[in-house]
Amino acid sequence: MKTNHLLAATALFAMIAGPAAARTTASYRTIPLPQHITELPGEAPFILGADVTVNAPASLANEAEMLRQYLPDGLKGTSSGSITLRDDLVDTNPEAYTIEVDGNDITVRGASAAGTFYGIQTLRKSLPATLDADAQIELPAAIITDKPRFSYRGTHFDVSRHFFNTDEVKSFIDMIALHGVNTLHWHLTDDQGWRIEIKKYPRLTEVGSYRPNSIIGRTGPGYDNTPVSGFYTQDEAREIIDYAAKRHITIIPEIDLPGHMMAAMASYPELGCTGGPYSVWCEWGVNDGVLCPGKDNTMQFIADVLNEVMDLFPAPYIHIGGDECPKVVWASCPHCQARIKELGLVEKDGVSPESQLQGYVTKFACDVVRKHGKSAIGWDEILECDIPRDAIIMSWRGVEGAAEGTRRGHRVILTPTSHCYFDFYQTKDTQNEPYAIGGLTTVERVYSLEPCLPGMTDEQKELVMGCQANLWTEYIPTFSHVQYMELPRLAALSEVQWLQPEARDFEDFKTRIPALMAVYDKMGYNYARHIADVDVRYDVDTDGRSLVMTCSSLPGYDIRYTLDGSKPTPESTLYTAPVKLADDCIISTTTFKDGVEGRPVCDTLAVGPLTFARCTLAVEPDAGYAFGGGQQLTDGLSGTCNYRTGRWIGFSGKNCDATIELAEPAKLSEVSFNVDVFSCDGLVDCRGVEVYGMAPGSDKFELLATEEYPEMDASRQFEVANHTVKFAPRELSKLRVVIKPQWVLPDSHPLRGCLGFLFVDEITAR
Ligand code: ACM
Ligand code: ZN
Repeated sequence: MKTNHLLAATALFAMIAGPAAARTTASYRTIPLPQHITELPGEAPFILGADVTVNAPASLANEAEMLRQYLPDGLKGTSSGSITLRDDLVDTNPEAYTIEVDGNDITVRGASAAGTFYGIQTLRKSLPATLDADAQIELPAAIITDKPRFSYRGTHFDVSRHFFNTDEVKSFIDMIALHGVNTLHWHLTDDQGWRIEIKKYPRLTEVGSYRPNSIIGRTGPGYDNTPVSGFYTQDEAREIIDYAAKRHITIIPEIDLPGHMMAAMASYPELGCTGGPYSVWCEWGVNDGVLCPGKDNTMQFIADVLNEVMDLFPAPYIHIGGDECPKVVWASCPHCQARIKELGLVEKDGVSPESQLQGYVTKFACDVVRKHGKSAIGWDEILECDIPRDAIIMSWRGVEGAAEGTRRGHRVILTPTSHCYFDFYQTKDTQNEPYAIGGLTTVERVYSLEPCLPGMTDEQKELVMGCQANLWTEYIPTFSHVQYMELPRLAALSEVQWLQPEARDFEDFKTRIPALMAVYDKMGYNYARHIADVDVRYDVDTDGRSLVMTCSSLPGYDIRYTLDGSKPTPESTLYTAPVKLADDCIISTTTFKDGVEGRPVCDTLAVGPLTFARCTLAVEPDAGYAFGGGQQLTDGLSGTCNYRTGRWIGFSGKNCDATIELAEPAKLSEVSFNVDVFSCDGLVDCRGVEVYGMAPGSDKFELLATEEYPEMDASRQFEVANHTVKFAPRELSKLRVVIKPQWVLPDSHPLRGCLGFLFVDEITAR
């Protein structure tokens, strides 16, 4: 009855006044998407104007203040009611909230102040970023209910490799709060800089917070002559902790030990096995210099630092690191060897006494943390030893740490490099990006993370606390660059953290991202726009002897392309359906929207006798590096040095054994192929190749040529290595190319003893 009355009133008003100027309307389909949005079309909307008041109990004074800060500047006119904040929602999840909107009131009700805060974030993101001429906003009547899927929703921030000041850290906190993140994992110490004041060890910051320069690129040559310094006093840390707490963000400090400690050892050389001297490291990677757990003073140092940090940070957790700790110096250190003897550590199940010594350090740190009434978090390497059950595993080298950790009864947090490393490139077009550590983590890739792994039992899934993005800052010197690496990948992660798996839909996410980007614009964030560029997929059509290009972008964006390498213009061919490409060309695609043009995405198609030929593999590539499989070796597109772009397929412990069926026989006299060398990640050049051919009408392969190559010189670091094998000209209908890997990495390699990787791309012939 009430509804009918209101409808009638609205219709009458429309008749008298004519159609009202359409007000800018709020949309509750924000990122992360609330669980339930029920719009009540019969009800009058809420009109938000300049005079809106916020009513809140004393317990929500902070949240009311936050809301006032978030309301748009420049609102005019009168509101149809007020905004009420409450924290009396009954829900077992303390972060749950509801928002009820009608013509008289907007009520945001949390199951705690945190829940209310998340409701405020949703409300804030619902509002259009720009106001209409009336400077008022219409919020449709609705009931929204929401709660996050995971209780641990993290982002990690490395302030050691580059230092970011207090205001920048606060800005980082605002940025993550916008995305419903509730944990900041603050990576405060590493080889390249110690960033937190420790009263008991003042030299940590006097000496350890300064380095004179940084190596250029990954491995030089040369240094950049730019000092990096800075640290947070305990007062500044408290200010940041308080700022985060007001935004319902817990800060988990990390003291990375026993590796990644060069800055501490430069400050107190007696902490290392040899006594130094050591210096704050000006290079990247993994340093052999690590703390000496054979010395009692080192163990005391660990306890003292952890205790002082735990006194400072109220979080129930502290991160104790544990990653990438080489044991070479321990093997020859008399203190460490004496400790090994004292503890009775002997080789067990292939785990060396030195590796078990790290387990001793982990257990020691966990005990210190437990005595403080807290729990320790460690990187997944800590699973290599027996460790206390209350240690929480942060799975980063993949998801196996989460699988193994939960099998052993540990709580886990997922941060796998495959989906969560925001220092990785975010586009295949790496040439036009700021220099990054490598890798490829696209927004879509982030979005596809499922923290509860397929093989996990219900009990194991209960142990998954959540997931987190990691931002390592070796190559991220400015805060604007930090924003660029975080956004909008953080938006994708926030839906993994908040939404139930069945509610996640990347296509739907793409319809909602423009509104969030408008918020980023309003906030002045420097965000990446690749999601609004063209997403190009190529599929080989062996029968049609062509490459089929399929393009997509955000809804409402026009895609235009050229095939001559020129930059697309608004007059270039409009993409409407998949395009068949059969000849050499340079493909360039760009989006256009409201006169704004995106960045071109370019690829080069080079067609030869093997291009588009059916290519099958005798042994599949490694699961993580299979991408499009064998067919990619003859797709006419060649990979650049970044091996994660999907152009390369990767093998470990096996040959790349490819059989290529030519569409019609061809006279050939040489075969070429590329191997990606990315030595620091274990990708080295191949050691040999065998080329077999089958003549038309025959069913037997004959060996045409075989070559062996020497072990790769250690000076070769990053390159696309091309190999060409010649043989007497032959008419052939099939080829078999067997590319042989290095197998085990040699002593000259930092990962000596591990299996090397063989990454292969385009196989061509003449
Ligand atoms: C890590 O990325 N070293 C945890
Ligand atoms: Zn030692």
